[in-house]
Amino acid sequence: MTNDSSVKKGVFSGTVRGNKRIGERFYRLRLEFSGAASSAFAQCGPGQFVQLDLSGTALPPGKDIAENLTDAAQRRILLRRPFSFADVTAKGDKTFGEILYCTVGPASLRMTTLKAGDSISVIGPLGRGFWVPEGKKTALLAAGGMGAGPLQHLAKVLTADYPTMQVTAFAGAKTVKELPFERRLDEVARNLGFSLPEFAQYGMESLVATDDGSAGYHGLLTNCLAEWLGQSDLRGQDMVIYGCGPEAMLAGLAEIAQDRKIDCQVSMERMMACGIGLCQSCAVECKGDRPDKTIYKLCCKDGPVFESKEVVFAL
Ligand SMILES: Cc1cc2nc3c(=O)[nH]c(=O)nc-3n(C[C@H](O)[C@H](O)[C@H](O)COP(=O)(O)OP(=O)(O)OC[C@H]3O[C@@H](n4cnc5c(N)ncnc54)[C@H](O)[C@@H]3O)c2cc1C
Ligand code: FES
Repeated sequence: MTNDSSVKKGVFSGTVRGNKRIGERFYRLRLEFSGAASSAFAQCGPGQFVQLDLSGTALPPGKDIAENLTDAAQRRILLRRPFSFADVTAKGDKTFGEILYCTVGPASLRMTTLKAGDSISVIGPLGRGFWVPEGKKTALLAAGGMGAGPLQHLAKVLTADYPTMQVTAFAGAKTVKELPFERRLDEVARNLGFSLPEFAQYGMESLVATDDGSAGYHGLLTNCLAEWLGQSDLRGQDMVIYGCGPEAMLAGLAEIAQDRKIDCQVSMERMMACGIGLCQSCAVECKGDRPDKTIYKLCCKDGPVFESKEVVFAL
């Protein structure tokens, strides 16, 4: 599994092959790469990211912009925006990358108007993604809201490269409408099952948690995961937890992992101006070599994936 930027990165062009709406605010953008871009993105590991230039892309018509985003929509886009792939497939001399995204501001709103045949500038693959520590037998994927994208990519790569590993996915959100999956989820039970096709396609069971109980387990994803661990007789040292989602959830995962002596990797989010380690805009506070000392690492270059035990979470 590739997880670092030793792969040759560059500024490439991607051709849009699809941009499907999922639910109210989610979309899945399919990009096709050929030539040098195909070789570069075929090696993009789960958790790495790309920087998209959306500055020349049109806004959707006003009637399609949610009321809470009407002001934000008018902001000019000066910087590229970071996105991770939810799926990467190499087919012949082409590579297809899919991005699961949510409309939250001017760039992601513009993304919704991309249509088949459009061309878009993509820098990547960037950063350090997820990796598998030696000797692990069980992986737990913890996806909070939009964190589901990179963990779907990880699920696919684990199945292909680590076929004997047991993998269980946990997906959480405040409420059912904020779960970025295609299936109707309001009738999902609170038990482990194959309810999420995005993970079931790799033979993985999944558990859904919503803060308001509108789907699956009633409560925080971290509580759901802790209960699951409480009922399991697996040894902490055989497991690894992978987390992607809001920082508060990642902090919760870090605590669970520390208590049970489980390795845990978290994908951190920061605003990224350059994405390649030049502007210093994406600092992540990390523990230093003394308890009273912290150091700053760069989310775009040293991460976005970090070991949870090294991060000082900003809460
Ligand atoms: C490594 C990485 C991978 C990502 N992958 C995905 C993905 O696969 N799918 C997806 O939908 N989004 C992803 N994101 C988040 C995405 O880059 C932002 O939502 C992006 O800023 C959207 O641009 P915008 O112009 O629509 O909204 P903006 O106006 O840029 O942001 C909207 C709101 O979100 C806040 N915000 C934006 N970016 C961040 C951030 N990095 N940290 C904290 N707050 C932020 C802003 O303060 C603002 O309030 C990823 C981010 C990172 C760092
Ligand atoms: S985004 Fe510029 S240094 Fe990280």
